[in-house]
Amino acid sequence: MFGTLIHSFHNWFFGRQIPAGSKGRKNQWFREPVRFGAVLVLGLCSCADKEGYPDDLPYPQRVDLIVEEAPKLSPNNPSPPGGLEKSIANLGLVGGKILDPVKLPEATQTEITKLLAEQFGTPAQPRVGDGKTNLPELGKKLKLDSQTLAQGSVAYRRNCLHCHGLSGDGKGSSGLWVHPPPRDFRQGRFKFISTNPAKNLNRPRREDILRTIRMGLHGTSMPAFGILPTEELEALASYVIHLGIRGEVEFTIEKTLLKPQSQVLNLFENYLPDEEVSKDQETLAFFVPKFLQEIVRQYHTAESQVLVPPEYPFKDSELSDSIRRGFRLFSSQAPDALGCVSCHIDYGRQSPWQYDEWGSLNRPSNLTAGIYKGGRRPLDLFWRIKRGIPPSKMPAATLTGEDEGKKTWDLVNFIEALPFPATLPEEVRNAVYGSTGRIAKPN
Ligand code: HEC
Ligand code: HEC
Repeated sequence: MFGTLIHSFHNWFFGRQIPAGSKGRKNQWFREPVRFGAVLVLGLCSCADKEGYPDDLPYPQRVDLIVEEAPKLSPNNPSPPGGLEKSIANLGLVGGKILDPVKLPEATQTEITKLLAEQFGTPAQPRVGDGKTNLPELGKKLKLDSQTLAQGSVAYRRNCLHCHGLSGDGKGSSGLWVHPPPRDFRQGRFKFISTNPAKNLNRPRREDILRTIRMGLHGTSMPAFGILPTEELEALASYVIHLGIRGEVEFTIEKTLLKPQSQVLNLFENYLPDEEVSKDQETLAFFVPKFLQEIVRQYHTAESQVLVPPEYPFKDSELSDSIRRGFRLFSSQAPDALGCVSCHIDYGRQSPWQYDEWGSLNRPSNLTAGIYKGGRRPLDLFWRIKRGIPPSKMPAATLTGEDEGKKTWDLVNFIEALPFPATLPEEVRNAVYGSTGRIAKPN
């Protein structure tokens, strides 16, 4: 139908049906402005059509498997391209635990879908909160207002959808083919964050998400979008948070209710322990807006919890000694050493594959390569070391004592120098690269 319309318009516009001769030419004086107007209107319509999602498109209900617990095992190879879903389905066979959301009673599935739509809208009209609960202040500070989210949704569709998917499941059409797989936002978990771990807050700051979008994640297929206008980047960060919160509410409910003998009360006990609930409030309809508020509150708290590095303590002439101490902390067996090398085997050149929280495979980075997903600034490395990368099971370094700050910078200095043999003190270079070694000695 639309094709026929375009065809007729095309014929009319290009004048195919105008017979050669005086009549056709006579009509042209009024045809031109009309045609011009029509092109403009159609152009605008088709543009608007291409930019946004259709109004009646809902967020899809989650039907893919939930990874409750990833296996401890280290497989030899990552799943082949396109094979992630199959590999997740098989996790149960190798010591993992998976749950199937489709096994929830149909009435529960329908209720979850309805409640999520109430709180989060649709891809064309995304929101956080149903407007009745007390989100406006926090929501505004986190830029989760409907206008910003609608703008973010348009930009997401254009730039991110093909990898991260409509609901943020990481299974867009390109997403299935890349390794590591694009982030599944639906667990509300992020890797590269800068908040203080002491507060037990596993939330990113908006700035962390913005950094990822602006700079990309080096060494993966996540591109850098720094070229986009600031306003669009901000809207994208808001939309990612929206998808994260929506997915997390869904994930948490399904994961909990799929366990044998569990009920809605377990959701309150596990996730809203301070909430006093009467018997008639033990419902999903009561839980969802409360839980949503709690998550928004946590994101909001994270904003002011940035982990500030101690002042850089060394003079230039002290760098070599600092690298030596960092090397020792990283790789020795000394009682105060940190055991980094037990995961980053051979400085990461021989790290084994392992499962992350999403049931996909990654491995402790090859730190001789100088490629850091979360950024290469000393500040980024400081955050990785002090914060760890919890979803990838990299623990935060447990540095204590008076010289904690110095030790942290020793580690950063060592990591920064590691890919460049010429900058390493000789005995460190020999230990890492061998004295006759894999790398030519500097002059
Ligand atoms: C070509 C595929 C691709 C495209 C397009 C893409 N991403 Fe990603 N994205 C990835 C991959 C892959 C990862 C995860 C890498 C990893 O975990 O090692 C990722 C991870 C992320 C993360 C998680 C960072 C963290 O701290 O855990 C965010 C946020 C993100 N992408 C946002 C976006 C946004 C916003 C867009 C669009 C503007 C976008 N991505 C477009 C592939 C893509
Ligand atoms: C339990 C295993 C484990 C230990 C111990 C560990 N790491 Fe890691 N590390 C990882 C994994 C896994 C990754 C890759 C994370 C990813 O890409 O998702 C990683 C990545 C990194 C990165 C790269 C970050 C980036 O932006 O790409 C650095 C730097 C790093 N580790 C430093 C350290 C240091 C320093 C220590 C010791 C204080 C340490 N690691 C201890 C598992 C570990």
